[in-house]
Amino acid sequence: MDCAVTGDFWQETRLCPILVPIKNIRDPRGLLGVIEGLREVGFDFRRFYFLTELAEGAQRGGHAHKRLRQCMISLRGKADVALEGPGGHFRFRLDTPEKALIIPPGYWRTLDGLGPESVIGVLASDYYDQGDYIRDYDVFRGQ
Ligand code: TYD
Repeated sequence: MDCAVTGDFWQETRLCPILVPIKNIRDPRGLLGVIEGLREVGFDFRRFYFLTELAEGAQRGGHAHKRLRQCMISLRGKADVALEGPGGHFRFRLDTPEKALIIPPGYWRTLDGLGPESVIGVLASDYYDQGDYIRDYDVFRGQ
Protein backbone atom coordinates (compact mmCIF):
# COMPACT_ATOMS: atom_id res chain seq x y z
CA MET A 1 0.00 0.00 0.00
CA ASP A 2 1.26 3.44 -0.87
CA CYS A 3 0.98 6.12 1.79
CA ALA A 4 1.97 8.93 -0.53
CA VAL A 5 -0.46 11.80 -0.16
CA THR A 6 -3.43 11.05 -2.38
CA GLY A 7 -5.65 13.90 -1.30
CA ASP A 8 -8.33 11.34 -0.51
CA PHE A 9 -9.01 12.09 3.16
CA TRP A 10 -11.19 9.01 3.72
CA GLN A 11 -8.66 6.58 2.27
CA GLU A 12 -5.74 8.20 4.06
CA THR A 13 -7.37 8.23 7.50
CA ARG A 14 -8.34 4.57 7.06
CA LEU A 15 -4.93 3.31 5.96
CA CYS A 16 -2.16 5.85 6.56
CA PRO A 17 -1.09 7.82 9.61
CA ILE A 18 -1.64 11.49 8.91
CA LEU A 19 -1.57 14.81 10.74
CA VAL A 20 -4.72 16.87 10.64
CA PRO A 21 -5.14 20.45 11.86
CA ILE A 22 -6.94 21.24 15.10
CA LYS A 23 -8.86 24.47 15.13
CA ASN A 24 -7.26 26.69 17.76
CA ILE A 25 -9.28 29.66 18.91
CA ARG A 26 -7.14 32.15 20.79
CA ASP A 27 -8.27 35.22 22.63
CA PRO A 28 -6.87 37.16 25.57
CA ARG A 29 -8.25 34.53 27.95
CA GLY A 30 -6.32 31.69 26.35
CA LEU A 31 -6.64 28.96 23.77
CA LEU A 32 -9.62 26.78 22.95
CA GLY A 33 -8.81 23.81 20.71
CA VAL A 34 -11.53 21.79 19.00
CA ILE A 35 -11.62 18.77 16.75
CA GLU A 36 -14.72 16.99 15.53
CA GLY A 37 -15.27 13.28 14.92
CA LEU A 38 -16.11 11.73 11.59
CA ARG A 39 -15.71 14.73 9.36
CA GLU A 40 -12.35 15.92 10.72
CA VAL A 41 -10.74 12.73 11.96
CA GLY A 42 -12.44 10.12 9.78
CA PHE A 43 -14.20 8.30 12.64
CA ASP A 44 -16.38 9.02 15.64
CA PHE A 45 -14.99 8.65 19.15
CA ARG A 46 -16.16 6.33 21.88
CA ARG A 47 -13.35 6.88 24.35
CA PHE A 48 -10.94 9.56 25.51
CA TYR A 49 -7.86 8.75 27.52
CA PHE A 50 -4.78 10.74 28.39
CA LEU A 51 -1.22 10.29 29.53
CA THR A 52 0.14 12.66 32.15
CA GLU A 53 2.52 12.64 35.14
CA LEU A 54 4.96 10.89 32.83
CA ALA A 55 8.38 9.89 34.06
CA GLU A 56 11.33 11.55 32.32
CA GLY A 57 12.34 9.33 29.40
CA ALA A 58 9.32 7.06 29.83
CA GLN A 59 8.37 4.96 26.84
CA ARG A 60 4.72 4.15 26.17
CA GLY A 61 2.95 2.10 23.53
CA GLY A 62 4.78 -0.97 22.39
CA HIS A 63 1.72 -2.56 20.83
CA ALA A 64 -0.60 -2.47 17.83
CA HIS A 65 -4.36 -2.54 17.55
CA LYS A 66 -6.30 -4.86 15.29
CA ARG A 67 -9.30 -2.62 14.64
CA LEU A 68 -9.03 0.46 16.83
CA ARG A 69 -8.49 3.86 15.24
CA GLN A 70 -6.95 6.61 17.31
CA CYS A 71 -6.33 10.31 17.20
CA MET A 72 -3.42 11.49 19.35
CA ILE A 73 -2.82 15.08 20.46
CA SER A 74 0.00 16.57 22.49
CA LEU A 75 -1.91 18.98 24.71
CA ARG A 76 1.30 20.05 26.44
CA GLY A 77 4.96 19.15 25.97
CA LYS A 78 5.95 16.71 23.29
CA ALA A 79 5.91 13.11 22.19
CA ASP A 80 7.89 11.36 19.48
CA VAL A 81 5.70 8.74 17.88
CA ALA A 82 7.17 5.91 15.79
CA LEU A 83 4.73 3.88 13.72
CA GLU A 84 5.17 0.70 11.73
CA GLY A 85 2.30 -0.77 9.79
CA PRO A 86 0.73 -1.56 6.45
CA GLY A 87 1.82 1.76 4.93
CA GLY A 88 5.43 1.58 6.11
CA HIS A 89 7.47 3.26 8.84
CA PHE A 90 6.73 6.77 10.08
CA ARG A 91 7.98 9.17 12.73
CA PHE A 92 6.00 12.12 14.01
CA ARG A 93 6.87 14.72 16.61
CA LEU A 94 3.77 15.95 18.40
CA ASP A 95 4.57 19.23 20.10
CA THR A 96 1.63 21.49 19.41
CA PRO A 97 -2.11 21.58 20.19
CA GLU A 98 -2.59 22.63 16.57
CA LYS A 99 -2.14 19.15 15.10
CA ALA A 100 -3.62 15.71 15.71
CA LEU A 101 -2.10 12.44 14.57
CA ILE A 102 -4.52 9.91 13.17
CA ILE A 103 -3.36 6.33 13.64
CA PRO A 104 -5.22 3.71 11.58
CA PRO A 105 -5.51 0.08 12.73
CA GLY A 106 -2.56 -2.25 12.31
CA TYR A 107 0.25 0.12 13.34
CA TRP A 108 2.81 -0.81 15.96
CA ARG A 109 3.42 2.37 17.94
CA THR A 110 6.13 3.52 20.28
CA LEU A 111 6.01 6.84 22.13
CA ASP A 112 9.10 8.39 23.57
CA GLY A 113 10.62 11.82 24.13
CA LEU A 114 8.10 12.16 26.95
CA GLY A 115 8.61 13.97 30.24
CA PRO A 116 6.74 15.26 33.29
CA GLU A 117 5.50 18.26 31.31
CA SER A 118 3.87 16.10 28.60
CA VAL A 119 0.10 15.72 28.45
CA ILE A 120 -1.04 13.46 25.63
CA GLY A 121 -4.72 13.07 24.83
CA VAL A 122 -6.07 10.20 22.75
CA LEU A 123 -9.47 9.88 21.11
CA ALA A 124 -10.31 6.27 20.29
CA SER A 125 -12.90 4.82 17.95
CA ASP A 126 -14.06 2.21 20.44
CA TYR A 127 -14.28 1.23 24.08
CA TYR A 128 -11.33 -0.42 25.77
CA ASP A 129 -10.90 -4.03 24.60
CA GLN A 130 -7.88 -6.00 25.69
CA GLY A 131 -8.58 -8.45 22.84
CA ASP A 132 -7.91 -5.73 20.28
CA TYR A 133 -4.25 -5.41 21.31
CA ILE A 134 -1.24 -7.13 19.75
CA ARG A 135 1.46 -6.79 22.40
CA ASP A 136 4.02 -9.24 21.02
CA TYR A 137 6.20 -7.69 18.31
CA ASP A 138 7.03 -11.08 16.79
CA VAL A 139 3.32 -11.88 16.52
CA PHE A 140 2.76 -8.45 14.97
CA ARG A 141 5.53 -9.02 12.40
CA GLY A 142 4.35 -12.53 11.63
CA GLN A 143 0.73 -11.70 10.92
P1 TYD B 1 -1.53 0.70 27.42
O1 TYD B 1 -2.52 0.75 26.32
O2 TYD B 1 -0.49 -0.37 27.38
O3 TYD B 1 -0.82 2.13 27.56
P2 TYD B 1 0.29 2.83 26.65
O4 TYD B 1 0.03 2.46 25.24
O5 TYD B 1 0.12 4.28 26.91
O6 TYD B 1 1.64 2.41 27.11
O7 TYD B 1 -2.34 0.64 28.78
C1 TYD B 1 -1.71 0.68 30.05
C2 TYD B 1 -2.66 0.01 31.04
O8 TYD B 1 -3.88 0.73 31.13
C3 TYD B 1 -3.00 -1.42 30.65
O9 TYD B 1 -3.05 -2.19 31.85
C4 TYD B 1 -4.40 -1.31 30.07
C5 TYD B 1 -4.97 -0.12 30.81
N1 TYD B 1 -5.95 0.64 30.01
C6 TYD B 1 -7.29 0.59 30.34
O10 TYD B 1 -7.71 -0.08 31.31
N2 TYD B 1 -8.19 1.31 29.60
C7 TYD B 1 -7.78 2.06 28.53
O11 TYD B 1 -8.63 2.71 27.86
C8 TYD B 1 -6.38 2.09 28.20
C9 TYD B 1 -5.89 2.91 27.03
C10 TYD B 1 -5.51 1.37 28.96
